[in-house]
This record gives sequence, structure tokens and C-alpha cells, in this order.
Amino acid sequence: MAGLTLPMTIALAGLIANVQAASTQECCNLVSSISLNVLGEDAQAYETERTDFWSTTAWLRPSCVFMPQTSSEVAEAVQIMVENDCQLSVKGGGHSTIPGAANIDDGVLMAMKHINTTEVNIEEGYIRVGSGALFQSIYDTLDPLGLAAIVGRVGVVGMGMAVGAGISYFTNELGLVVDNVVAYEMVLANGTFVEVSSTQLPDLFWAMKGGNNNFGVVTHLKLRTIETAGAVFGGVITYPEASLDDFGTLLYDYHVRQAVEAPKTHVLPQYYYNGTTNTVGAVAAIVYNDDVETVPEIQQGWMEIDATSNTVQRRETYADLVDQVRDTSGDGLVQEQRTLTIYADEALMKDFWQAYHAWLQQYQHIQGLYAIHVQMPITPRAVAQGYANGGNALGFDPAENRTLSVIVWSLSIDNIEDTEEILPAHREFISSMEEMASSRGLLHPYIMLTYSAHDQPAIASYGEENVQRLQEIRDIYDPGHVFKTLIPGGQKLQD
Ligand SMILES: Cc1cc2nc3c(=O)[nH]c(=O)nc-3n(C[C@H](O)[C@H](O)[C@H](O)COP(=O)(O)OP(=O)(O)OC[C@H]3O[C@@H](n4cnc5c(N)ncnc54)[C@H](O)[C@@H]3O)c2cc1C
Ligand SMILES: *[C@@H]1O[C@H](CO)[C@@H](O)[C@H](O)[C@H]1NC(C)=O
Ligand SMILES: *[C@@H]1O[C@H](CO)[C@@H](O)[C@H](O)[C@H]1NC(C)=O
Ligand SMILES: *[C@@H]1O[C@H](CO)[C@@H](O)[C@H](O)[C@H]1NC(C)=O
Ligand SMILES: *[C@@H]1O[C@H](CO)[C@@H](O)[C@H](O)[C@H]1NC(C)=O
Repeated sequence: MAGLTLPMTIALAGLIANVQAASTQECCNLVSSISLNVLGEDAQAYETERTDFWSTTAWLRPSCVFMPQTSSEVAEAVQIMVENDCQLSVKGGGHSTIPGAANIDDGVLMAMKHINTTEVNIEEGYIRVGSGALFQSIYDTLDPLGLAAIVGRVGVVGMGMAVGAGISYFTNELGLVVDNVVAYEMVLANGTFVEVSSTQLPDLFWAMKGGNNNFGVVTHLKLRTIETAGAVFGGVITYPEASLDDFGTLLYDYHVRQAVEAPKTHVLPQYYYNGTTNTVGAVAAIVYNDDVETVPEIQQGWMEIDATSNTVQRRETYADLVDQVRDTSGDGLVQEQRTLTIYADEALMKDFWQAYHAWLQQYQHIQGLYAIHVQMPITPRAVAQGYANGGNALGFDPAENRTLSVIVWSLSIDNIEDTEEILPAHREFISSMEEMASSRGLLHPYIMLTYSAHDQPAIASYGEENVQRLQEIRDIYDPGHVFKTLIPGGQKLQD
């Protein structure tokens, strides 16, 4: 044990400070000295925690799993990790498809799941949530109060979204998830605990809105709450192949008209390809954030094109809506997501889907092949909301006044062995889509971190000026860049 150090508060006699890196086993022993919630590789629950990630590509082999129960355990652990050069990962809901974003080989997996409280502050208009909380519990807590928070659309996903970007049912009206964070409570590189907001360390607050795990470990977040109408109108419609051209037309109309003129609308549109049956179709969540009995005129088109099923109706709670909007491909598969941003354009948006369909058919033989193609707007109003709330690091230009379309290609297959055949080709295919957008003058540089693949430069896409500002802020709060070297996974801010 010689050569390992603990924070002063729990220092053991005889330890010598400031020597070289501890082995990962020693790092696990040190963490065990501050918490009973550390699972070694031989613990029964280790396998469950190691594989509690959406994509099997994120099922790595940590040396141990540490599940802190309090903020001070997180702070002590960060201090120990830094003093002993121990590598770790930080896991929220485990839904990133980037293999080492929230898990790690030969290091400490710090899973926030036990820090999951949800406390509502009605007077000040926020909900304080643990960084291990999943969205389901936030909807469940707020629904009975007639309130909602601007969080993700699927219940099992977690707060990693709130340090990346985040598209919510409310985004057309209120902006991204990061734009509606009131404060982050976090542990800095020196083990100090801080709360950052528009009035406390506002530079760091700005950096957290897109900075992923590069600036500290978040223990809690305060999220703005809004009063709902007491009900929401929405559900899921499935469309057959014959409706897809009309679907594409409506989708473009949603990006440039419905979402712009009626900010209470929300649509989560997914084209899908099922390789097992070699069939295509679309699934869309259609939502109107108000208490109405019938679909608003502006969304009527979605109800009129031929559909195979339709659950759109008035609902008493958002939880009921969230329950409809499930992940269609499921857990425990190989998943890859890649993304680009364009200026909304009908021909390009339709061409993306047709090209993807054609490309996918070449891989029909791969077991379990299933793909989803999603096109989501960021309207001028959503961008303006971000600025109104103090700005974020993402690099949107409020003067542009055009709808941006975030395009996601999401691929899933059954077996890791098939990744070699399909993933490099997937990367090449999306590069060709990028070239197509670029040649038509429609490519926007933004790469949404929360839908990005490991080799897509999400943070660099925020623009040189923002990257430089992020680096300056890091030099203040993490001068040793420990969150880059000790938390190696996920999208990193370059030196
Ligand atoms: C089924 C599904 C539905 C989705 N729905 C939406 C949606 O509606 N809108 C949308 O915008 N996106 C959506 N996404 C994408 C989602 O935003 C990202 O997958 C996001 O990374 C998920 O966060 P997480 O906490 O679950 O993931 P994790 O993999 O646990 O974390 C993601 C990243 O955040 C970092 N991080 C997590 N917690 C902390 C912390 N406490 N402190 C510092 N860093 C931290 C991790 O280190 C990691 O790098 C969805 C994805 C899936 C698979
Ligand atoms: C929160 O964490 C506690 C402790 O791990 C757990 O018992 C509880 O079920 C979790 N709550 C939710 C809503 O996930
Ligand atoms: C694809 O089709 C097969 C065969 O009908 C079905 O079993 C499977 O569930 C479908 N995949 C998805 C993700 O819906
Ligand atoms: C943005 O564009 C729309 C129409 O394209 C126009 O009506 C509006 O005034 C513009 N807003 C700003 C702030 O330029
Ligand atoms: C830790 O870093 C913060 C931010 O730079 C600083 O304010 C604080 O004084 C530091 N704490 C210690 C104990 O060095």
C-alpha cells in the first residue's frame, strides 16, 4: 500500500503522499476504504452493473464498480483518484453508445445510480435531482403537481443528457435540456464541492452546458420546472412504407413551419428499417403540450396520412405519454449512433432516408440488423431560449434565424462479431452524407454530443472560439487536466 494517499480527512497513518500511479486494484482498495458500496469482480452484482448499459459495446471490464451514496463520497473519491492517478468513468443512465463514455476497462466505474433523489422546490420553480436519477422518476414526481421539467423523452435515460445537449418534448418552446438547467452541483478536480449557476461561477456554468465530463463530476442538478396545462395531447403513430413520402413531406413542414409557428408542438419522427424482414416504415410520437381534446389544425397532417396504428389522445400525465414512447430496439444489443446537422431542406432530408435505406439493404444478412433514422429540428426560438438563459457552449448563431435539423443514424445488430463488417462502412456512409450536405451548401458544423459516435469531434464542432473559451475555463478549474487523463472516456475537450 505504500505510495497511496487518501484525502486528509481520512488519511491513514504511514501513507506517503505524492508518489506514482496506483495499480487499478489499489485504486479499488482505496475507494473501498471510504465506501461499502464497491463491487469487486468476484461480487455477485458486478456482472449486472458492468452490463447495465444500453449498448453491448459499452460492456467493458472495470476493476470494480463504485456506487456512491452521498456527495461527500463522490468528493472523497475524486480526491483519492486524483492523488493516486486512478482512472475512472462516470455513469448516469448508461445510454451513451460511445463504448467508454461511462464505463471503463481496468479502472473504477463510478455509477451514480444511488444518488437519485428528486426534490421539488415549488416556490423557486425547480426540481433538484441526483445525477443518477432517470427521467421516469422526474416525470413521476412532477406529474401530480401539474409540473414538468425539460428532460428527455424516454424514461430509462439519464442525466448525461444534461451535460451534453438534450431534446425534450418542450424544446420548440423552451430550448434544449442544458438550457433549462438552473444549477449543477459538482465536484472539481481538487475535490472541492461547488454549485454553479448563472450567478455562481457563471463561466463554469456555461461550460457545463455541452462540456460533458470534462469539468467535474456532477452530483445533483437543479432543473427548471414549468406548469403544465394539467394534461398533454399525444401518442405514437406507425406508418407503412406507402406513407413514407408523405411522411417526409410533413417532417420537413414540421421543421420549418409547425415547430416554428406552434412551439407547443413536438414530434419525434423515426424512419425504421428491419433487416430481418427487409421492411421499412416510420414511427412518430406526435405531441401537443396543452390540454386539448383533438389534434390542433397545424398537426392535422400527421393524422391524415395512412397509418397502421395510432394512440394519439388526451392524456392526464406526461408519464402516460412517456410510457408510449419506448425504445423500439431494446437493451443488450450492439448500438451505434452517428449524427450531423444541416439547415432544414426537404430534398436533402428525403435523400438521407432513401440513401440510408439503399445502404442498409446491403447488410440484410447481418443478424438482428435494425436501423432508425431521425430528423429533429432546432428552431430559431429554441436557439434564442438558450441565449436568454445565459448561453451554452454549443456554438449556435442566434442571428441565423433558420431551422437546424439534427440528423441521427442509429444502427443496431445482435452480435459484436459483426461490428467489423458494418461499423466502418457505417462511418463511411455517413461521411458520404456529410459530403452530400456540404456540396449542396446545407451542412452546419454542429455535432450533437449526445447522439455522436466516438470518432465524431463533437466538442470541436462548437467552433474555435468556444473551444478556446472552454480550454481557458478548464485551465482555471482543472489546471492539471485530470478529467481528461483520469476520465478517459466520452467526448473529450482537446488540449
Ligand atoms: C433510448 C434512448 C432515448 C434517448 N432519448 C433522447 C431524447 O429524448 N433526447 C435527447 O436529446 N437524447 C436522447 N437520447 C440520447 C441521450 O441524450 C444520450 O444517450 C445521453 O448520453 C444519455 O445520458 P445517460 O446519463 O443515460 O448516459 P451515460 O452513458 O451514463 O452518460 C453519458 C455521458 O455523460 C457523462 N456523465 C453522466 N453523468 C455524469 C455526471 N454526473 N457528471 C459528469 N458527467 C456525467 C458520462 O461520463 C458520459 O460521458 C436517447 C438515447 C437512447 C438510447
Ligand atoms: C433510488 O436509489 C435507491 C437506492 O439505490 C433505490 O432503492 C431506489 O429504488 C431508487 N429509486 C428510483 C426511483 O430509481
Ligand atoms: C424485426 O422483425 C422481426 C420479424 O418480424 C421481429 O421479430 C423483430 O421484433 C423486428 N425488430 C424490431 C426491432 O422491431
Ligand atoms: C426570421 O425569419 C422569419 C421568416 O423567415 C421572419 O418572419 C422573422 O422576422 C425573422 N426574425 C428575425 C429576428 O430576423
Ligand atoms: C479548488 O479549486 C477551486 C476553483 O479553482 C478554488 O476556488 C478552491 O479554492 C480550490 N480549493 C482548494 C482546497 O484548493
